[in-house]
Amino acid sequence: MSRLVIVSNRVSVPEKAGAAPAGGLAVALQAALEEHGGIWMGWSGKSSGAKAPGPLDMRNHGKITYALTDLTKTDVEEYYHGFANRVLWPICHYRLDLAEYGRKEMAGYFRVNRFFAERLAPLLKEDDIIWVHDYHLIPLASELRQMGVKNKIGFFLHIPWPPADVLFAMPVHEQIMRGLSQYDLVGFQTDFDLDNFGGGLVREGIGERLEGGKFSTYGRTFKGGAYSIAIETQPFAEFARKAASNSMVRKARQSVEGRDLIIGVDRLDYSKGITQRIDAFETFVTLNPNYQNKVTYLQITPKSRSEVPEYEQMQRTVAEQAGRVNGALGTVDWVPIRYVNRSIARPLLAGLYRLAKIGLVTPLRDGMNLVAKEYVAAQDPDDPGVLVLSRFAGAARELTGALLVNPYDIEGTAHAIARGLTMSLDERKQRWEKMMDHLVKYDINRWCEDFLKDLTAEDVEETAG
Ligand code: UDP
Ligand code: G6P
Repeated sequence: MSRLVIVSNRVSVPEKAGAAPAGGLAVALQAALEEHGGIWMGWSGKSSGAKAPGPLDMRNHGKITYALTDLTKTDVEEYYHGFANRVLWPICHYRLDLAEYGRKEMAGYFRVNRFFAERLAPLLKEDDIIWVHDYHLIPLASELRQMGVKNKIGFFLHIPWPPADVLFAMPVHEQIMRGLSQYDLVGFQTDFDLDNFGGGLVREGIGERLEGGKFSTYGRTFKGGAYSIAIETQPFAEFARKAASNSMVRKARQSVEGRDLIIGVDRLDYSKGITQRIDAFETFVTLNPNYQNKVTYLQITPKSRSEVPEYEQMQRTVAEQAGRVNGALGTVDWVPIRYVNRSIARPLLAGLYRLAKIGLVTPLRDGMNLVAKEYVAAQDPDDPGVLVLSRFAGAARELTGALLVNPYDIEGTAHAIARGLTMSLDERKQRWEKMMDHLVKYDINRWCEDFLKDLTAEDVEETAG
């Protein structure tokens, strides 16, 4: 079988695995590669300052070889903080108001993609399957093709793809679309994202949607598909079952004794709807005074991308808001919101999910949202909690047993919390079983297999036309 070569900006190196989370991409790819084996190339997370980065740092770990590169300070600023996280991220999350375009940053983005290609090309063997991940590296295939690489190259976007009118507000949208067209298979999280992509090509008059899930644009024909990313369902459920004996989980259980626990887990990111969620919790307690002193909302929110001004601002906003609500609602023996601003290792997280009567997952926009899937997998089958889930998370397409909410509707979310806390055991079980059956069938291995099967299928073109 061909070797798998995965490329992503963020890499979950073994020393860090299980410790600091780097978001859904790293968690999912770690699980997929552990099963399959291969090379994982990406950014080390370190800067080489003003000097050019040294050679790739190669590390073998089980079936995976990691190939890590540093980036210069300028590259990190322009490519990662600049274009990837201040243009592509907000645009793909429908936040035109937050996008900050700068030509320097755009040039830096394309330059670093060329640099990645230059470092990757010498590692490649003829029949390697290359699988590129996420918005940081859209132009990578184009750069590799220009260097004569003829391997199959697939791309998976972990975040949403916006509708045409949002996308077209981005000055280089055409180059980005052209970049995607150089892959053999482009995968999105849901068919909504796929439709947005196809719609954009047609609206711009640069391409068309063909039979058999194919697109034709810029003289190339390539496949597009929806592949919803998933979790290691059974092992995660097992983690959660075993976590009951974990001393931290025991302490957490004792500390909420006599109160219902609501849990939220998100990187500190404006796409996650954290401020709206805190408002909804406050509204819930205000509308249901019988829950005063009877409920604890635990919000675990590790800092993320703190060098980006919009994120730095958010850290202050959320901390102030949690403090204000605690001040307004709390009593001498009750702190309504426990706001934890650091990352929690996933085995402990699994135990906390299981303790919680409500998993509150209310992003304003999210490609998938693995936390929603993890919350479901972690539940006790005999007494499962209720998932309150934003209709704007990709996961809402699959987790139909959740209470779906519109996170902009604060009172609606507050009502869903109340409904979840009073739901009968029968209804909770019914809803949970439906979701869990789905997650067992469509786990991370299935996601990986489905994508690779389509990428390696005979009718995918091998080289640029
Ligand atoms: N995560 C973690 N510890 C934390 C917070 C999050 O391990 O303190 C993990 C979480 O278990 C999940 C991932 O980070 O696997 C977040 O993925 P998701 O798709 O929900 O959001 P993303 O961060 O990718 O936008
Ligand atoms: C999301 C993105 C990933 C990214 C992660 C964490 O899951 O889709 O590409 O790795 O967030 O963000 P960071 O900027 O720390 O890598």
